[in-house]
Amino acid sequence: MVGSHAAEYFAAKNNKVYVYDSLIRSQIFGSKHPSVEYNWNYLKKIKNITLLRKDIRDKKSLKEVFKKNRFEAIIHTAGQPGVRFSLKRPDEDFQINCLGTVNVLEAVRHYCPQAAFIYCSSNKVYGNNINKYKVKQQKTRYSFAEIKGISESEPIDLTGHTPYGVSKLAGDLYVQDYAYSYRMKTAVFRMSCIYGPRQFGFEDQGWLSWFSLRFLKGKPITIFGDGKQVRDVLWVEDLISAFDKFIQSKLQSEVFNIGGGPTRTLSLLELVFLLEKLTNKKVKIIYEPWRKFDQKVYVSLIEKAKKFLGWIPLIEVDSGLSRLVSWMKTNINLFAGRK
Ligand SMILES: NC(=O)c1ccc[n+]([C@@H]2O[C@H](COP(=O)([O-])OP(=O)(O)OC[C@H]3O[C@@H](n4cnc5c(N)ncnc54)[C@H](O)[C@@H]3O)[C@@H](O)[C@H]2O)c1
Repeated sequence: MVGSHAAEYFAAKNNKVYVYDSLIRSQIFGSKHPSVEYNWNYLKKIKNITLLRKDIRDKKSLKEVFKKNRFEAIIHTAGQPGVRFSLKRPDEDFQINCLGTVNVLEAVRHYCPQAAFIYCSSNKVYGNNINKYKVKQQKTRYSFAEIKGISESEPIDLTGHTPYGVSKLAGDLYVQDYAYSYRMKTAVFRMSCIYGPRQFGFEDQGWLSWFSLRFLKGKPITIFGDGKQVRDVLWVEDLISAFDKFIQSKLQSEVFNIGGGPTRTLSLLELVFLLEKLTNKKVKIIYEPWRKFDQKVYVSLIEKAKKFLGWIPLIEVDSGLSRLVSWMKTNINLFAGRK
């Protein structure tokens, strides 16, 4: 989803854009129904975009593509984004997220070392360290009791992560090191929950889109825990504008926590209430025990991105959610057959 928005945005700015994707997303989430294939067809119609259906695990393909083109910026969004998939298949998670990232970095180092390189990292790199912060319980949510959010200086090791957290962290560190060892221009964006149109959410990833779909279909939602867990959420176009600001900047190598920050947060229960209002429906909520790897609260501090990039998020949660639901309603046929 992030990649399709980045492609559309940069093509609209009259750049020549190459999209490199294996379209494996639906398979990762065990669905027989197309998801990112829609985004593929959507991008096909846009001027300035070339689509390459290829895998980042395939070094030969990467070499062929990079040898032929002089890229000025690489936005590395390809990845396996599911925590549960990573627990079932840590080997494949490693191959895609870690080795795949090194393959892309190698192609850049050899063929376009001057290019700006952006990596989509994750708040999961902080793992369970987040759970050492005291949280307070309120009516519909938990919140940090003593801090506003998590900064880039949060420790990343000596804690549990899940294989997904580890493979993303390994990629994150490799990207930082390619800046250090090979002087490449790199930015690591440790992303919170990103949402927007053309997102095909599953129970394991893309919760705003998943809950919205369940509401539109009138189907039950399973909540692991009590539903008071909180995340900061960021509209995808706001994320892409931060990428652009980094590419335009003179910064050489930075790490940013990026999300909606303390003013754009939602608990699962609050999302349910908002969706009840937006769709005029109620769905059954099934409560299951907490999952070991879920953080009760994760909120990014986004001060560094604001200061270094001159960036601010523009879309508020209410308005973003209403745009997401309205896109899904208009395109509900894309979700036909989905459970
Ligand atoms: N969306 C979020 O909230 C979020 C939060 C934190 C981090 N991230 C990270 O951001 C990136 C983009 O997330 P997204 O929400 O757009 O996910 P997405 O699943 O929509 O996009 C990832 C794309 O990568 C492709 N892909 C997977 N393995 C590939 C491979 N081996 N070779 C080529 N393409 C491959 C998939 O087909 C998919 O189109 C991911 O790396 C994810 O880990 C996302």
